[in-house]
Amino acid sequence: MGRVSDKVAIVSGAGSGIGRATALLLAEEGARLVVADVAEDSGEATVEQIRALGGEAIFVRTDVTQDADCANLVAAALARYERLDIAFNNAGIVGYPLLTAEYGTANWQRVIDVNLTGVFNCMTHEIPAMKQTGGGSIVNTASIMGLLGAVGGSAYCAAKHGVIGLTKAASLEYGRNGIRVNAVCPGYVETPMTVGDDSIFPSRKLQDGIGRAAIRRMATPAEVGEMVVWLSSDRASYITGASFPVDGGVTAG
Ligand SMILES: NC(=O)c1ccc[n+]([C@@H]2O[C@H](COP(=O)([O-])OP(=O)(O)OC[C@H]3O[C@@H](n4cnc5c(N)ncnc54)[C@H](O)[C@@H]3O)[C@@H](O)[C@H]2O)c1
Repeated sequence: MGRVSDKVAIVSGAGSGIGRATALLLAEEGARLVVADVAEDSGEATVEQIRALGGEAIFVRTDVTQDADCANLVAAALARYERLDIAFNNAGIVGYPLLTAEYGTANWQRVIDVNLTGVFNCMTHEIPAMKQTGGGSIVNTASIMGLLGAVGGSAYCAAKHGVIGLTKAASLEYGRNGIRVNAVCPGYVETPMTVGDDSIFPSRKLQDGIGRAAIRRMATPAEVGEMVVWLSSDRASYITGASFPVDGGVTAG
């Protein structure tokens, strides 16, 4: 018996990194998955990996900045599985390494659209679906940058602080409907977002971040996924409105 047996779970940004690892863990723990990503090939690859484990999954191409896509995502989950129990709203982009005055409105808007409005768009459709069957668990991906500031991170920090505020507000609104809403705040996690393109995520910044972690290394995506699985399970039945660092101790100092 898995920790989320037979529950139906949507994971956005499930084509890569934290989203993929979490989708695989949820499937291992018995959930039936709806894999959402704007990138079709990588989303389909996640579905294949889940099926190879003996799990059940469908892919729904979703750009979380588009409300109609998010409506379609939840409709597809209901059409296939007739319920929605778990949502991990995780799709995100890293933003641009620019100072605030140089950021520019277009860059700012893009980061806010994906990282904050994308979570809102998903939640607006997930909540009514969960209400139909007496509740569920929503976990949103914030970041340690939702708790701290960072040089060259104004839009990303603003979006992630916003995710934590949105999480708190929705938890107060829907607790009475049996819906718990929490956030995870990863630290430095080894994914394509952080490793690979020095112009987007400078390795100097990464080394500095690892140096600030009590556990002197990056997290694996699955180490974040473990927290998400627990929050999504009935074992976290009294936890709502909370934001959990999974950061190796970065925010402890
Ligand atoms: N990697 C880290 O160190 C770290 C730290 C803190 C928070 N986070 C957050 O974790 C989440 C996942 O990041 P990751 O490191 O796994 O990155 P990743 O780049 O490996 O994965 C992100 C996924 O989101 C998808 N995506 C991007 N824009 C989308 C859109 N508009 N609609 C739907 N899907 C979209 C991408 O296609 C990709 O599959 C993000 O919200 C990120 O901000 C990451």
